[in-house]
Amino acid sequence: MSTPAKASSSPSPRQLFVTTALPYANGNFHIGHIMEYIQADIWVRSQRMAGHEVNFVCADDAHGAPIMIAAQKAGVTPRAFVDNIAAGRAQYLDGFHIQFDNWSHTDSEENHVLAKEIYLDLKKAGLIEIKSIDQFFDPEALEGKGMFLADRYIKGECPKCGAKDQYGDNCENCGAVYAPTDLKNPYSALSGATPVLKASEHFFFKLSDPRCVEFLEKWTQDGKLQPEVANKVKEWFSTRTNADGTTSTGLGDWDISRDAPYFGIEIPDAPGKYFYVWLDAPVGYLASLKNLLDKRKKSGGIDFNAYMANPNLEQYHFIGKDIVTFHTLFWPAMLKFSGRKTPDNIFVHGFLTVNNGEKMSKSRGTGLDPMKYLGLGMNPEWLRYYLATKLSAKNEDIDFNADDFMARVNSDLIGKYVNIASRAASFISKYFDGQLRYEGDTTYLMQGAISAAVLVKESYESREYGKALRDIMAIADRINAEFDAAKPWLLAKDETQRIALQDICSKVLHGFKLLSVLLTPVLPALTEQVAKNLFNLDRSFDWTDAAPLPTAIAPYQHLMQRVDIKQLDALFEAPAVVETAPQATLDKASTSAVSIEPLAPEITIDDFSKVDLRIAKIVNCEAVEGSTKLLRLTLDAGEGTDPEGNPVTRNVFSGIASHYKPVDLIGKHTVMVANLAPRKMKFGVSEGMVLAASSADEKSNPGIYVLEPVVGAQPGMRIR
Ligand code: MSP
Ligand code: ZN
Repeated sequence: MSTPAKASSSPSPRQLFVTTALPYANGNFHIGHIMEYIQADIWVRSQRMAGHEVNFVCADDAHGAPIMIAAQKAGVTPRAFVDNIAAGRAQYLDGFHIQFDNWSHTDSEENHVLAKEIYLDLKKAGLIEIKSIDQFFDPEALEGKGMFLADRYIKGECPKCGAKDQYGDNCENCGAVYAPTDLKNPYSALSGATPVLKASEHFFFKLSDPRCVEFLEKWTQDGKLQPEVANKVKEWFSTRTNADGTTSTGLGDWDISRDAPYFGIEIPDAPGKYFYVWLDAPVGYLASLKNLLDKRKKSGGIDFNAYMANPNLEQYHFIGKDIVTFHTLFWPAMLKFSGRKTPDNIFVHGFLTVNNGEKMSKSRGTGLDPMKYLGLGMNPEWLRYYLATKLSAKNEDIDFNADDFMARVNSDLIGKYVNIASRAASFISKYFDGQLRYEGDTTYLMQGAISAAVLVKESYESREYGKALRDIMAIADRINAEFDAAKPWLLAKDETQRIALQDICSKVLHGFKLLSVLLTPVLPALTEQVAKNLFNLDRSFDWTDAAPLPTAIAPYQHLMQRVDIKQLDALFEAPAVVETAPQATLDKASTSAVSIEPLAPEITIDDFSKVDLRIAKIVNCEAVEGSTKLLRLTLDAGEGTDPEGNPVTRNVFSGIASHYKPVDLIGKHTVMVANLAPRKMKFGVSEGMVLAASSADEKSNPGIYVLEPVVGAQPGMRIR
């Protein structure tokens, strides 16, 4: 689907506001994120090459329960947690030549202000409604503060098949869909406590209002969306599946509030109520843009409101297929009914899988770690090139295949494109002192270049990158064939053939320049080197550079290495995994990498010594009746004997039942926090805490690993 070229017939450049989805700030980028940014970056670069003016922004999606909980686990404030993740972004973006104009986060001042403004405008339009709903509440979560539980934090037995430990919305065993309240023996995945039903007032955005329905039916079905996306969206207008598996007709109202404690933006005049993260997240697009324009305003730039008021402004969002509802229903409706500009289009891509692997986890990819890729010295433009060959305007999944990657890069990119320059340039430098000369009529060369540029530019515009690169490689094939047919190595041996040699090499180098221009959106660094080092330009290529015949070149300098199979082997070598699983339940965890959470703030040695850690022997261990999560441990921490001569022991509850059978722990030594204040729990008093390791990202590595000292450590020994 091509985008309307509003300004292409007039000399004034198009004004483009482009975003990618805001990544959750609870982990580092995975290869799926990088793919999305590369897709958008190629599009943006192609527009800029045409002289259009683009503001390309993104931000960290800071809010929501998972980030609040991860921060709490890490012992830092949510804001510090987010800042830490944000600090790691630049190395990925710079590393893969992804050129955002701004990177902000959704807890910014701008976002707080804009989200509230939009909400108040929606309220004024009569589209906000308050309803009381019953929801599960975990009284023990967040160290006893308690919180309402999102479906993903409620587990229990499937009401249909009885499978244990199923999530609150659907059963992974039998596929049943239900409401969390249907689960048997529900428990909180956060604390293990039994949740209680509690009523709470929630704020709803009335999407079912006829005004919204009418607007959205038109907005989503007017032909701008990708056909497969528009068709999917159409279904939502006729039927929708409720949480309990039943279906209703028409759009449902959207629950936009969450109760404290929540890391988010407070709803005006509603103490203790926060915007659901998905309300303020897309507002973050505008907030990041405003943040950028406010910075530029200091040096005379245009004001945010004035920029948005431009009727010719085009607004595009690149997103993945999993977040289409938010971007084709909620977001346009929020904008429309708060009196704002609606997006011109939403560009939806499919998911990237690796080596035919599964879809990557939301917070951590499997198989191809982008930082590891860069760390191995692999060229970022290989990846840009390879992904571009696979990308189209269709919302379909693509697979990164290691063999295919090596073949495309080595035989096409290097074999067909880069090698042209090294061959032709060496003759020109050796025999003609860098001077180019063309025999006969050259208009066909220029005309061919112009039509190639028009064709390829249109493919970039319509996000048909695979087609663009197939067309480019077909041109490279023709140039190589023409060069080979002229047998330049024979011409070079014959002094009388100098004119013919210079002519063919010049034409081939013109072709190489054309290819370089065509590849510039995909290979910005390589082609910049070509522009500057080979063709003596003082800037990167733009579309107007395709046709003109170059008159001289500088000596050829090495442009790009081939992919070495050893690099791919190293890239896909399994990451270090946690050792020694005491039982089979750890199988899933032990095969996946650990996601590393950010470090807690620095402490002094004095801070550390406040924690009294002791070796303890697990003298007994048993299941806790009524809890699927807890085990009761009886620990001997070397605290002497009681008057009867029995060793003094401690009673400690530990949330490790899903990973250990009691019998596997009895007799083992472990590490205990010995000076922790006793804590009264539902099943008794816990008199300490056993140390265990776990991943910040429980979904991809759910393992819990109880610490065990090296043989020889005795109960009561202090850990320092
Ligand atoms: N925070 C939300 C988006 C808010 S936008 C206002 C979110 N974050 S995310 O980190 O989970 O995903 C960010 C983007 O990465 C989404 O567009 C998502 O579709 C995309 N991808 C996540 N996994 C992906 C792949 N495996 N492949 C390609 N894109 C993937 O959703
Ligand atoms: Zn089931």
